[in-house]
Amino acid sequence: MATQQTALTTGATSGIGRELANCFAQDKYNLVIVARDQNELNQTASELKQQFGIEVTTIAKDLFKREAPFEVYNESKGLQIDALVNDAGQGQYGTFDSTDINRELDIIQLNIGAYVVFTKLYLQEFTARNEGKILLVGSIAGELPGPLQAVYHGTKAFVNSFAESISGGKQGQQGHHHQPAAGPDGY
Ligand SMILES: NC(=O)c1ccc[n+]([C@@H]2O[C@H](COP(=O)([O-])OP(=O)(O)OC[C@H]3O[C@@H](n4cnc5c(N)ncnc54)[C@H](OP(=O)(O)O)[C@@H]3O)[C@@H](O)[C@H]2O)c1
Repeated sequence: MATQQTALTTGATSGIGRELANCFAQDKYNLVIVARDQNELNQTASELKQQFGIEVTTIAKDLFKREAPFEVYNESKGLQIDALVNDAGQGQYGTFDSTDINRELDIIQLNIGAYVVFTKLYLQEFTARNEGKILLVGSIAGELPGPLQAVYHGTKAFVNSFAESISGGKQGQQGHHHQPAAGPDGY
């Protein structure tokens, strides 16, 4: 019997990330789930274990912090990761002249910085092993300007472009890019 595989999913306690965690769990992947709130992580882990009979490891980390994705990578080194799901992301509304620049820098770090670091670290590992899957959650928001969410749309344009560059270009075929349709919140 094949060894059970493991997927690392950021943003797995809510929304699209939670649904993706369910999909991997349904396929009998064990999970490493990453978000900030340890209570939410514990609750999600216990639901996934109970419903699907898989192993779930939680890592509470604030991906607004530049060093956080490196720490997650190091802390999960004891487990072989077979699939990476870059999902955690945020946006904010408002005209660009009125929004908070520090919050926008945090969003850029989360939506772009963390995706780039995780993707590089795991792509290097997957390339060496010649196996592994990477999914980057993009958005239709990346395909058009969003005057009231200028930074969010810009970050998703980056994700859409970056994902296509590394999946279709000379880097190989490992990248997988998922672009959910716009939801009621305008993402
Ligand atoms: N919702 C939509 O309609 C839509 C459409 C297209 C694309 N998307 C994309 O899909 C992804 C998920 O969106 P969603 O609406 O499903 O999100 P969501 O329900 O708000 O969930 C966000 C998840 O990310 C985690 N997270 C947020 N900030 C974090 C941080 N600083 N560090 C670590 N984890 C953090 C949250 O947990 P904690 O708060 O505990 O950290 C939570 O698990 C995003 O990349 C978004 O751009 C969403």
